[in-house]
Amino acid sequence: MQITSVGHAGFHIRTAAGSILCDPWVNPAYFASWFPFPDNTQLDWDELGNCDFLYVSHLHRDHFDAKNLAEHVNKDATVLLPDYPVPDLKRELEKLGFHKFFETEDSVKHTISANGAEIDIMIIALRAPADGPIGDSGLVVSDGETTCFNMNDARPVDMDVLHDAFGHVDIHLLQYSGAIWYPMVYDIPSRTKSNFGKQKRQRGMDRCRSYIEQVGATWVVPSAGPPVFLDDELRYLNDDHGDEGNIFPDQMVFLEQMRIHGNEGGILMIPGSVADVRGAELELTHPFEPGLIYDNKAEYIELMAQRLAPVLAAEKQTWATGEGPLLEPLKALFEPIMAQSDLICDGIGYPVGLVIGDETVVLDFPKRVVRGPIDGEGKYRYGFRIAPELVRTVLRDNEPDWVNTIFLSTRFQAWRIGGYNEFLYTFFKCLTDERIAYADGWFAEAHDDSASTELAGWEVQRRCPHLKADLSKFGVVEGNTLTCNLHGWQWDLESGRCKTSKGHELRSRKLS
Ligand code: FES
Repeated sequence: MQITSVGHAGFHIRTAAGSILCDPWVNPAYFASWFPFPDNTQLDWDELGNCDFLYVSHLHRDHFDAKNLAEHVNKDATVLLPDYPVPDLKRELEKLGFHKFFETEDSVKHTISANGAEIDIMIIALRAPADGPIGDSGLVVSDGETTCFNMNDARPVDMDVLHDAFGHVDIHLLQYSGAIWYPMVYDIPSRTKSNFGKQKRQRGMDRCRSYIEQVGATWVVPSAGPPVFLDDELRYLNDDHGDEGNIFPDQMVFLEQMRIHGNEGGILMIPGSVADVRGAELELTHPFEPGLIYDNKAEYIELMAQRLAPVLAAEKQTWATGEGPLLEPLKALFEPIMAQSDLICDGIGYPVGLVIGDETVVLDFPKRVVRGPIDGEGKYRYGFRIAPELVRTVLRDNEPDWVNTIFLSTRFQAWRIGGYNEFLYTFFKCLTDERIAYADGWFAEAHDDSASTELAGWEVQRRCPHLKADLSKFGVVEGNTLTCNLHGWQWDLESGRCKTSKGHELRSRKLS
């Protein structure tokens, strides 16, 4: 099997039964905030796009690059489609002209063929509201000699399905770096922000190592991030100035972490690197010396910013302009969604302030209305300050998901009193009838907490109250606090109270 990195979470996998192009991202995403790092614009995208199969793991813009897919990828390629409850990914691909779909079943091994040969594949589909834009996935490919698990940024809760279906994994490609706006956009003192950033940075790498241990592959390729921020106002987000609170560590940092923890199987792949893998044997070639990127990363980024400045400027030209208040269009967008999502609105529980230029619009979730501010209302418990052109653009484009547009851009500020509110971000990513119905129903389903596990002298429910991660694998106890490393949520073991978000109580008992 020959695996070529095409940048970020993108890979081209060549097998006897044809080639699979995965997550080919090259154009800037999220209001031109994110660019692929290292630069992958020099690759031959027509050649890469001439593939037999296409796999797009999910709809986040650093995985689903509509422009690249439209311009360079063979529309007769068979799409290996994850098994998602809401069919948005398939619809978006159909709009681009793809017409052959191999609809997989979640976590089931399938055989596909091309060129007279066969390979086995399996797509693990994550379907919780917190997983990507309602859906994230990982792809397993096996040609009988080599098994590759391209997990990208998916967070499967159960690795048994992988081992039961494929046995040993030879090469594991996965995310280790941050891909979120927290804590950078929050209005909090800089020292607190830096401490939160440090925790976030370390937790992301710890989670990755936990997955690496569970999968037990011979070779590991850190992938799917970090992006690079080339806009002057966002350049501080790059991990190129020794800031320990930066949540975007690069491949070199993570490979070092692996070595510190005794794992020598880490492989650096940059765009154009080729790994020829035959079971446990791997031969690696790079298109050029990677030191040219990492030895002086700040300079590399500066040159990249100069080179891609016209691309950034052109993207900004596409943002909507306009005048006039936004209350009415936002009312028309949000109120019908509020009316369909009792559980989510109650979970948010407070009015949320959107400060858009000079205008403040209040999403009054308890009352299910969108309105102007009321005198004496004071500071909103949750709030966002967003530039009007971004809001006008998502309204113009009928975007169903503000996470996949505004929030991941990091081009906003936020504040909150109290912990993270999962319901709030779920609401913003479910701005269609179909999505909100699915998400509200998902929260309504009772979660099974009948099984238990023992951790450091405590008996706790086996499945994490957040998204059912196996706490015997992801749970870490320090003092009376349990941390689930899958998303870093924490519980007080004495009371079972979730310290991270409202609700989500944990069943726990001290063993004598
Ligand atoms: S599954 Fe998300 S914190 Fe445990």
